Amino acid sequence: MNKILVLNGPNLNLLGTREPAVYGRDTLADVEKLCRDEGARQGVAIECRQSNHEGQLIDWIHEAGREFAAGSLLGVVFNAGAYTHTSIALHDAIRGAGVPVIELHISNVHAREPFRHHSYLSPAARGVMAGFGVAGYGLAIAGLVRISEGRA
Ligand code: DQA
Repeated sequence: MNKILVLNGPNLNLLGTREPAVYGRDTLADVEKLCRDEGARQGVAIECRQSNHEGQLIDWIHEAGREFAAGSLLGVVFNAGAYTHTSIALHDAIRGAGVPVIELHISNVHAREPFRHHSYLSPAARGVMAGFGVAGYGLAIAGLVRISEGRA
């Protein structure tokens, strides 16, 4: 069975209690279950990881690149949190790894503070999902499956 990696970056471990008016009341565990359920519907295995550390996220993107090259991974759904707006290193990691990445944001970052409007990841991402709440994770998984089948 093919696999999708769902990566969550800094502060997303606080989902459920962190600014619920912006991010909702679902916890990270709820989100990971939602992802596994969508994976089961799509016939792909889902692996979920979260880190607050940029270097760890970079290492996981590199690992994903190797698995993609080996044919055992379809791609990555990646909510990089605030690193989206700061990290040239994550941009370089995505480009260097050559793995399809869907950049994901729970909130509509373009309707928020100006410092959230720029993303270093978007130019390196295969697709971008923002503003669908946590449901966006399931939509991104379905979209990545379509991409892998040449249907998007
Ligand atoms: C976020 C948006 C980012 O601007 C923010 O720093 C986050 C979460 C989102 O999911 O909406 O941590 O990526």
